[in-house]
Amino acid sequence: SIIHVVLTGGVGSRLWPLSRKSQPKQYLELFEGKSLFEMTVARNAHLVDQVMVVGNVDNCHLSRKVLDKTQTPYIDIVEATPRNTAAAIAFAAFAAQAEDVLIVTPSDHIIDDTEAYESAITAAIAKAKENSIVTFGIVPTQPETGFGYIEYKDDSVLSFREKPNKATAIDFISRGNFLWNSGMFCFKASVLLDELQKFEPEVYAAAQVAWEANQNGQLDLDLSLTIPSISIDYAVMERSKRIKVVASKFAWSDLGSFESVYEYLLAHGQPVDAQGNMAIGTNVFSTFIGLKNTIFVSTPDANLILQKEQSQDVKYVYNQLEKEN
Ligand code: GDD
Ligand code: MG
Repeated sequence: SIIHVVLTGGVGSRLWPLSRKSQPKQYLELFEGKSLFEMTVARNAHLVDQVMVVGNVDNCHLSRKVLDKTQTPYIDIVEATPRNTAAAIAFAAFAAQAEDVLIVTPSDHIIDDTEAYESAITAAIAKAKENSIVTFGIVPTQPETGFGYIEYKDDSVLSFREKPNKATAIDFISRGNFLWNSGMFCFKASVLLDELQKFEPEVYAAAQVAWEANQNGQLDLDLSLTIPSISIDYAVMERSKRIKVVASKFAWSDLGSFESVYEYLLAHGQPVDAQGNMAIGTNVFSTFIGLKNTIFVSTPDANLILQKEQSQDVKYVYNQLEKEN
């Protein structure tokens, strides 16, 4: 069967203080009373046979609430602690049958254009059935350093580079045959597990041990902590020869940093001043003097003021606060 695997383990640390450990951004009901998580499940529901949610103990009640509300049957995988996407995806693949086709998506992206999305998924499923690991490529608009880059020719992937530095990203964009990796993947469970075992045998083995000891989909903390933390992009996508790409035409934003939230809000009518400054999260009159491209983020118990171009650095603040608490 075809299974939608929803990854929802992240806390969105680059969107602190809007996004918190107790209320990650994918559950914020920012879009006409719906959250990105709910929209993600709805977008795929009619394309698949089954839904599998890979989340964690801190947020599984938030997923459950949405899925109960929409009466969606699902398989629940609850991590004891985040071990990054290689492990999260491995659990989903272990839980599935070898021949099942998994469509793995984050739960916190904006995607417009249903038709283009569905045709990309259909194309991907066909390639996955032929034992490829399919990525979904997006035409890049600026040298983002927070994304993976896919060097491609037709549906072949010449190389995959996760999160290049700025100079490399600028070079990739100027070369014209690179796409952004959207962070969605499609593959047979067995194919992904074979590649993971080949390139990251320790991750594979530790994830398998942890999975085999699961209790109703809940993972054990001590066993989880033995799994090396690495993303699927570094573990498999940069190394595998089985990667294909579906160049996708749907409008996509990962809302992964305040820079992308800024672009999104700007496109949807949120005002900025003449110097490109924007206030987010407040209706209180706010003004900027002597500042350019500054974002002011206001929440009841924490404010953030940042230079738009430095949006990737918010995660360091988050990590620092995590350590202190
Ligand atoms: N269950 C679970 N467990 N989910 C996780 C974990 C985990 O330990 N870690 C991350 N996730 C979820 C996040 O919530 C998110 O939905 C998804 O997996 C991807 O993780 P991110 O942390 O958001 O990855 P990224 O944004 O740095 O990079 C990925 O996405 C980019 C596009 O948005 C990569 O695939 C890049 O190549 C890609 O360009
Ligand atoms: Mg992300």
